[in-house]
Amino acid sequence: MSKKFYIKTFGCQMNFNDSERIRGILKTIGYEPTDNWQEADLIILNTCTIREKPDQKVLSHLGEYKKIKEKNPNALIAVAGCLAQRAGWELVNKAPVIDIMFSSFNMHQLPELINQAQAGYKAIAILEEPPEDEDKVWEYPVERDNPYCAYVTIIKGCDKNCTYCVVPRTRGRERSRSLESILDEVKRLVDDGVREIHLLGQNVTAWGKDFEKPIPFSELLYEVSKVPGVERIRFTTGHPRDLTDDIIEAMADIPQVCNALHLPFQAGSDRILALMDRGYTKEFYLERIAKLKEKVKDIALSTDVIVGFPTETEEDFEHTLDVLEKVKFEQVFSFKFSPRPGTPAAEMDGQVPDEVKTERMRRLLDLQKKIMSELAKRYERTIQEVLVEEEKNRELIGRTTTNKWASFKGDKSLLGKIVRIKVTKSSPFSLEGELVEVVK
Ligand code: 5AD
Ligand code: SF4
Repeated sequence: MSKKFYIKTFGCQMNFNDSERIRGILKTIGYEPTDNWQEADLIILNTCTIREKPDQKVLSHLGEYKKIKEKNPNALIAVAGCLAQRAGWELVNKAPVIDIMFSSFNMHQLPELINQAQAGYKAIAILEEPPEDEDKVWEYPVERDNPYCAYVTIIKGCDKNCTYCVVPRTRGRERSRSLESILDEVKRLVDDGVREIHLLGQNVTAWGKDFEKPIPFSELLYEVSKVPGVERIRFTTGHPRDLTDDIIEAMADIPQVCNALHLPFQAGSDRILALMDRGYTKEFYLERIAKLKEKVKDIALSTDVIVGFPTETEEDFEHTLDVLEKVKFEQVFSFKFSPRPGTPAAEMDGQVPDEVKTERMRRLLDLQKKIMSELAKRYERTIQEVLVEEEKNRELIGRTTTNKWASFKGDKSLLGKIVRIKVTKSSPFSLEGELVEVVK
């Protein structure tokens, strides 16, 4: 009987893509997936450590999953991802049930690590630096849930040093994946029926800068768009400082690039932005947004914001609200500042009390709710293109190019097709519509 694995993923899209790769690796060595951790021979937690909350979630899950060993003493528990990279042995000491530990640096070593653990050793492989052979990971297939939309990791790590962020410590310096390797994967995905390619990285806009002969990210967008069968392209996450005019031009010029962009601004006050070491001002950010809105028709913007960064005053916070009012994002992901061990911001004077963070967060959410209901109106009675991704309760569901979920009545044979719908009902998070025509 083949062995079974269960994988639980926390954190960002990069981590979800890493889990898809881990699933691919495990399949190649004969493991089968299960949705029930209690029947697994191998449980993997792919962890996140961006804020304190995800750290706590991992520990509480470990507390539960360790019961597996009562039933199946040979079962193995593995911790992967960013918390593993940040906390390493400290975490193993806290949770001795961990048998295997690795990070995004060395996913390709998982088969060896499993062998070591089965032989009774603790297989803790947390490296200071990414190993020379880390590109081996691209040789493994990915196991996806979504047949039509696929993530493709194009750059790992981050060279920015935002003072609040652990990512440079957990994912290392920037390493761009080669153009050939990316295009190879895109071709394979399209052959497999994928129509939407979502390029991923902590900082995709920096792709290609570290090559001996640098290639601009905009060039990659053109190359991906030339692969026959690629109908849609998205990319996350970009840094405002690297969002150069050529990228905006490429977004406007390439028909497959969706008119949606996630562009974190983090804070509206120039003083806070400087303390965060973001490398831009509020004015610079607003100028980039103005340019995007001018060039890319009906672009839908989303962003990340941190509330209550050390020393943030009421006046600073009002600049954050002002950016929300001016830009009118379709979606805002807001977070209370969470001090991360080893980051400069954790040591800064003037930490903001939790009550103040909570109160500011509430005001931010209220404002954003109002903006979202206003924005929802702009979809009413419009025609939208939707890539049909699934059937649920006898309705078809897919996303618009602006990344909004839309549902309508239609036949299952439309799965995987791009269709036009007329919007009959629009709410802040989703649309309802009627089928007008099938595009392709
Ligand atoms: N505290 C709160 N939010 C954070 N983020 C990153 N680090 C922290 C932190 N220490 C947020 C940023 C980032 C998103 C992924 O998480 O807004 O864009
Ligand atoms: Fe979490 Fe950041 Fe790691 Fe993604 S890169 S899993 S958000 S810590």
